[in-house]
Amino acid sequence: MPPLAPPLLEWYAHAARDLPWRSADVTPWAVLVSEVMLQQTPVARVLPAYSAWLSRWPTPADLAADAPGEAVRMWGRLGYPRRALRLHAAAVQIRDRHRGAVPADPAELEALPGIGVYTARAVAAFAFGRRVPVVDTNVRRVLARAVTGVGEAGPPSATRELAAVEALLPEEPRTAARFSVAVMELGALVCVAGRPRCASCPIAAECAWRLAGWPAYAGRPARAQRFAGTDRQVRGLLLALVRESTEPVSKPRLDGVWVHATQRERALAGLLTDGLLTELADGRYALPGG
Ligand code: ADE
Repeated sequence: MPPLAPPLLEWYAHAARDLPWRSADVTPWAVLVSEVMLQQTPVARVLPAYSAWLSRWPTPADLAADAPGEAVRMWGRLGYPRRALRLHAAAVQIRDRHRGAVPADPAELEALPGIGVYTARAVAAFAFGRRVPVVDTNVRRVLARAVTGVGEAGPPSATRELAAVEALLPEEPRTAARFSVAVMELGALVCVAGRPRCASCPIAAECAWRLAGWPAYAGRPARAQRFAGTDRQVRGLLLALVRESTEPVSKPRLDGVWVHATQRERALAGLLTDGLLTELADGRYALPGG
């Protein structure tokens, strides 16, 4: 077994958070829902949305039978609401092409709407115990530090990073999957982006970055994501008004959410193009129907 795995697995066994999508009896559908929600969204915000979603739609077929607009409504304030539409479209494909069962193969998972390289491998590993590399932001940072010896991950390179993580995986598939979630957890709790907690790190003795004396990162700094004043904020306000209304919403009411008309119209046009809103024959706006 590669040298990082034993101390990491031992640490994970006692230090990991008890998250519902990690319990032994979780379904592949629940893992898929959790991974889509966790893209770009913190765990604390995902927890209530995850349980509400699965209570309402315990299987892909349950979601596929409902209108896509209901998925957008249930998505609530999680952000990046196109994820709700894609999850709905994925549920339809799982029902129609996979007899209602989430596929286990990463290539088949990647063929589903909204499922990228990361999510396909996360589901294959965490739901089906497959031995596949799972590389997200946290894993990239741990890899950059512990293996490459630099303070931050450089620009992403999926092929190179998948190969690097594959080389670290234990042989036994279920142990490999547990190792992957342990690396993610280390990146979330200990090897964090700001000030890493090296004093409580189970692989500090092996960490190339620490052994080199924590050299400062020489690459370009990551771009911070602005939210206030962006089209994304305006889209969020428009969609929230329709989502929280029991009836379709008139244009004058939508116009009330943002004073700058050009930006407001651009945001509205984007929501219509993305299929997150539809314009009815009477000129009012609603969530997309079946
Ligand atoms: N456990 C499994 N996948 C996870 C994720 N994406 N974020 C946090 N915990 C996880």
